[in-house]
Parts: sequence; C-alpha cells; structure tokens
Amino acid sequence: MTSQPTAGQVEGDHVLVLNGPNLNLLGTREPGVYGRTTLAEIVADLANIALSADPPLRIEHVQSNHEGHLVDAIQTLGPGSVGIIINPGALTHYSIALRDALAAVGIATIEVHLSNIHAREEFRHHSVVAPVVLGQIAGLGPDGYRLALHHLIARRSSSGGEQ
Ligand code: DQA
Repeated sequence: MTSQPTAGQVEGDHVLVLNGPNLNLLGTREPGVYGRTTLAEIVADLANIALSADPPLRIEHVQSNHEGHLVDAIQTLGPGSVGIIINPGALTHYSIALRDALAAVGIATIEVHLSNIHAREEFRHHSVVAPVVLGQIAGLGPDGYRLALHHLIARRSSSGGEQ
C-alpha cells in the first residue's frame, strides 16, 4: 500500500503516518510477533481518532518497501504537518537516510514498533532514528500508534498549534 504525496494541503491539518518495509503484510506476517491486525485496520482506527480531534485532523498515510520513497514522503508531507508517526520497520536499524530526513524537516516525530525491539534479537536493539525523534513506543502492538496520535493531538492543543 503506498500513497503518493499530494499537493495543496492546509497547514497543520494532518498527521503523517509512515510505515516501512513489510508492514503492508501485517495480519499475516509472523502473527505471533506482530499480531493479526492489518495495516488497513490500524490506519482506519487512526483516521477515526484524528477526525474526532478538535479541530479535526486528517491522516496522510504512506507505506513503502523503499527507503527513498519514505524519504520523499518525509520531505513533501512532513513540513506543515502536526507531527509524524513512523514505524520504519527494518530501516529503523540502519537507515541514516531516514534519520537525516527526519532531522532535516524538524517535525515532532514519534517512533512506533509493534514488537518490543529491545527484547528481541540484538540487531533490533539499536535504532538509528531514535536520537532525532521525540520518543519511541515499542511493544504495545497497534496501541502504540494510537498513543502516539493522542500525544500529537494533545501536544498541538497545548502548543496552540505551534510546531
Ligand atoms: C518492527 C520491528 C523491526 O525490527 C522489524 O524489522 C519490523 C517491524 C516492529 O514494528 O516491531 O519490520 O518495526
């Protein structure tokens, strides 16, 4: 599932949700690790939460198996957003390009992992994006995305809409 960055957005009316490689397979991919919830269900849930915010928000969702596509999405859809929620998948552990893109746009970003990466194989313990994000949520399954969105909504309210 991918969506192309769209033009003509209204400043501050969306949250950018990014999902990296293999997350399109959620629901059937290693359900013992990642659960049975599909990515479409996660995104629909986020869209409902965003719509009930005051004022309502839109979710711009991009899933891609390609690093460059995610970098493009950060560059085009990140600026002007209320914040970014990103599950970079395996790119978490080695993509300096993603980290640099997040640092370059400087938008409040929350890193989400369905599984507890710190309790898994050693190569998953290190996140190269963690130093440039606001915070990381790992191990709470789809709840991690919801909590991240609630936080960005609350943060928008308390900052009066400032980035
Ligand atoms: C993941 C954890 C990563 O290590 C893995 O490569 C993924 C999913 C998670 O959501 O738990 O693809 O980001």
